[in-house]
Amino acid sequence: MIDKINTIKQEIKTFIINNEEDLEAFRLEFLSRNGKIQKMFGLMGSVPNEQKARVGKAMNEVKNIAQSVFDEAKTSLESDSKKVFGALDDITLPVEPAYTGSYHPLTQALDEIKQIFLRLGFNIADGPELEDDFHNFTALNFPPDHPARDMQDTFFVRKSDDPDIDDLVLRTHTSPVQIRLMKEQQPPVRSIMPGRVFRNEAVTAKSYFQFNQVEGLYVDKNVTLGELIETLVMFARLMYGSDVKYRVRPSFFPFTEPSLEMDIWWESDKGGQWLEILGAGMVDPNVFKAVDVDPETYTGFAFGMGVDRIAMLRYGIDDIRLLYDNDIRFLQQFKS
Ligand code: DAH
Repeated sequence: MIDKINTIKQEIKTFIINNEEDLEAFRLEFLSRNGKIQKMFGLMGSVPNEQKARVGKAMNEVKNIAQSVFDEAKTSLESDSKKVFGALDDITLPVEPAYTGSYHPLTQALDEIKQIFLRLGFNIADGPELEDDFHNFTALNFPPDHPARDMQDTFFVRKSDDPDIDDLVLRTHTSPVQIRLMKEQQPPVRSIMPGRVFRNEAVTAKSYFQFNQVEGLYVDKNVTLGELIETLVMFARLMYGSDVKYRVRPSFFPFTEPSLEMDIWWESDKGGQWLEILGAGMVDPNVFKAVDVDPETYTGFAFGMGVDRIAMLRYGIDDIRLLYDNDIRFLQQFKS
């Protein structure tokens, strides 16, 4: 009897299971109701009493071996079927699309603006969001206590009565970066300066307490108003298409003389309208004096444009707050 049990044990150990059919064959051969193990237990009756304990133990051992061989083979076949591609699987099929994030509409608009000015020979500079009064106002020819400072409702971070301690503000525009650049670097300067600016304004669909600007500055010998207008028109054509309708109007800024604003004609479902996209002008000699650049030798032009306005026009966004809520349902719509 023990010999017989050992033979079965040997058969179990040498049985090769490579696939589902082998596994089923193994089950029928050993584990099923008519299988060899069940038959073996059926012979227990003919085993002499004094051997029953030893034979029973050997039989149980063989049964356990068969069961664990079966279980292991089954698990390994199942995990193989997940990993291994069959000959009929097309491993070049595209995967299901998944949402992987996208660039913010402001980033996309800003990237376009940067690309255009890099093409026109400008480089990119930046400056701090926390500014002192000198860079944000005084050096830009805003007279002290002049209502021009109220033009831009300012967030003051430090207000000082001591004339030796400058006020600190959240910058109200990117123009102070012009001052920092010219203090660091003698002309020629040809840079754009993108950045976030802050104004103490009521939050509505049209105005917000922060937004983004791109400042531009070109200083060299013999820079002219004609070149400024040429540059702005080139920008409008590259940004909005060569058939863009634009106009240039006189304006006022303390840091430029003469000053101008550029509007573009924008058609929408509600009809057409002129929209102001930027302010610009020839750098005021007082600004050059504040940074020790000789206004007799150099001239320059400057401009400042709103990125939010450009992004809102481009994508038909009618509420500026959407740009800052970071609601994923809104952002998901700007895959590029
Ligand atoms: N700093 C102005 C503003 O925030 C925009 C501006 C106008 C910038 C004329 C300039 C400029 O550089 O020349 O409204």
